[in-house]
Amino acid sequence: MKRTLGVCYYPEHWPEDQWADDAARMVDTGLSWVRIGEFGWSRMEPTPGTFTWDWLDHAIDVLGSAGLKIILGTPTATPPRWMVDKHPNMLAVDAEGRPRKFGSRRHYDFSHLGYREECRRIARLMGERYGKTPHIAAWQIDNEYDCHDTTLSYSDAARRGFQDWLAQKYQSTDALNRAWGNVFWSMEYDHFDQIDLPNLTVTEPNHPHQLAFRRYSSDQVVAFNKVQADELRRHTDAPLIHNYMGRITTFDHWKIGADLDIASWDSYPIGFLSDRLEGTSKEKKKFLRQGHPDFQAFHHDLYRAVGKGRLWVMEQQPGPVNWAPYNPAPLHGMARLWAWEAFAHGAETVCYFRWRQAPFAQEQMHAGLLRPDSEPAPALAETRQVADEIAALPDVGTAQAQAALIFDYESAWAWDAQPQGADFDMFRLAFYAYRALRRAGLNIDILPPDTNDLSAYRLVLAPGIMTLSDPLRAALARFEGIALVGPRTDTKTDELNIPTPLGPDLPDIDITVALTESMPPDAMVKLQGGGRFWHWFEHLDGSAPVHLRTKAGQPAIMGGDHIRYLAGWPDDATFDTIIRDLCDALDLPRQSLPQGLRIRETDTHRFVFNYAPKAQQWNNVSIPPAGVHWEPL
Ligand code: GAL
Repeated sequence: MKRTLGVCYYPEHWPEDQWADDAARMVDTGLSWVRIGEFGWSRMEPTPGTFTWDWLDHAIDVLGSAGLKIILGTPTATPPRWMVDKHPNMLAVDAEGRPRKFGSRRHYDFSHLGYREECRRIARLMGERYGKTPHIAAWQIDNEYDCHDTTLSYSDAARRGFQDWLAQKYQSTDALNRAWGNVFWSMEYDHFDQIDLPNLTVTEPNHPHQLAFRRYSSDQVVAFNKVQADELRRHTDAPLIHNYMGRITTFDHWKIGADLDIASWDSYPIGFLSDRLEGTSKEKKKFLRQGHPDFQAFHHDLYRAVGKGRLWVMEQQPGPVNWAPYNPAPLHGMARLWAWEAFAHGAETVCYFRWRQAPFAQEQMHAGLLRPDSEPAPALAETRQVADEIAALPDVGTAQAQAALIFDYESAWAWDAQPQGADFDMFRLAFYAYRALRRAGLNIDILPPDTNDLSAYRLVLAPGIMTLSDPLRAALARFEGIALVGPRTDTKTDELNIPTPLGPDLPDIDITVALTESMPPDAMVKLQGGGRFWHWFEHLDGSAPVHLRTKAGQPAIMGGDHIRYLAGWPDDATFDTIIRDLCDALDLPRQSLPQGLRIRETDTHRFVFNYAPKAQQWNNVSIPPAGVHWEPL
């Protein structure tokens, strides 16, 4: 695989006579790709049915003739103002029942079928016009599903769509009442059209009702995406891509991924640290200008799997962003480090966002590779450096990972509906497990919940999986390494009820979660040997051997040679010890990496990244802050 670089560009923001110069500078910087078009609908179709493609034709010609490959975006994240006049009910409605108005972006409701048809139409027109254009080497559909919390909408369109979805799924309200346990509090229905969306109820809506709405809402995103994918496929053979985001669990990325060719994501490490991650202010200060050392890697590994092995970074932070609570500048070298880290995790392409900082509108404080006056911004030189380094290194493939983590979006929805403890969150739990594997220096694959073969791995973690799928249970039954499942794994039915017999239902292992506790963050369950659980602790019964106990003598890890159940949420140090012991039991080489130093192997090289604010030692090499070191394997 050949690694390449690219950039996001908005020709409609700049005078036409500047495009050729921009294109030449992009090529000169070592960029191969340019992404355009994804917000350009008002310039493509200024009034309904009137098309002004000439500027886009020209932009494609100028950029393509300069030698750049183009990723063309469908502009459906930014419907023009006339669209809202044409479809006044297309706006999404928030959980308080208020419409989310025109004046920024993503002002549409995934359930609105009229808008979906408009998107099919613009995708068809773009496909017809540009599907065979040689310069267009990839397509991006829409932009960042769920950005600005737009998956869920409590509109009339959503209510009608939900009722229809429920009728198809359950066939009768009797079946639905039984599945949801609606006899509780007299919540039974006689007709599907009585069933409202689960917002504005007096106290919490029934959990299966919430879970059903989350499943329905995710299905709408999948359907919305598929309409455009199907349309484009009629006209182009170029790969279809969507740009996912960091820590978004509101729709099933595995399902969207099945309809596309490449998974890409938008990586803003410093924005994410301040906006999307738990952590003490001390930790956040340490990584203020670098981002969390594991957050990018988690998403690279997740989306590499969502993309069936094909991963891109469609937007890479180049400097300060505008949207986080605080927006510091990256440490010198981070724009390079983030790109190399993506490549080491299998990314084929990294595109920086954006070429030139816009002096107008919402993102005028967001850095680009160029300043608004076209002078180089700090990341331009780092980009050039990465391009030179790519040229000097051989092409690579991804290394086989020793460890795997199962990640399930439906479980995220289940635990959103029923957190049981204020800080129980699926991403957070999975990220804890991932980080522990990574601090041990392991290569990690993230796998979907219907994985049916684990034979390539030695160590598998599956925390928080609401219900084990049949294929996964069968794969676990055959597994020859060690799988550590739990906490909260296989403890619910598919309808988020408690199964009887109680879960988990693990192949040939007698373990039962007899009682569940959640705890405030300052309460701990101490373990023998010094570790502790926090947030969550399950009391386990059963005849399976106990591998670790709490100080009070209760099981903390229980199970057989190949499948074990973890009864609580370990803090970082405890997770490190658990992973260390499992690696040792498996004879799996492991590291104990200093804070901020991280490793990922390709099939030819070991890459070492320093996220720490000071130099760190790796064997006999001193790696400066923001430094990247690679060595042949
Ligand atoms: C992304 C988005 C881009 C731009 C960027 C700013 O979420 O896709 O259009 O807004 O963030 O960081």
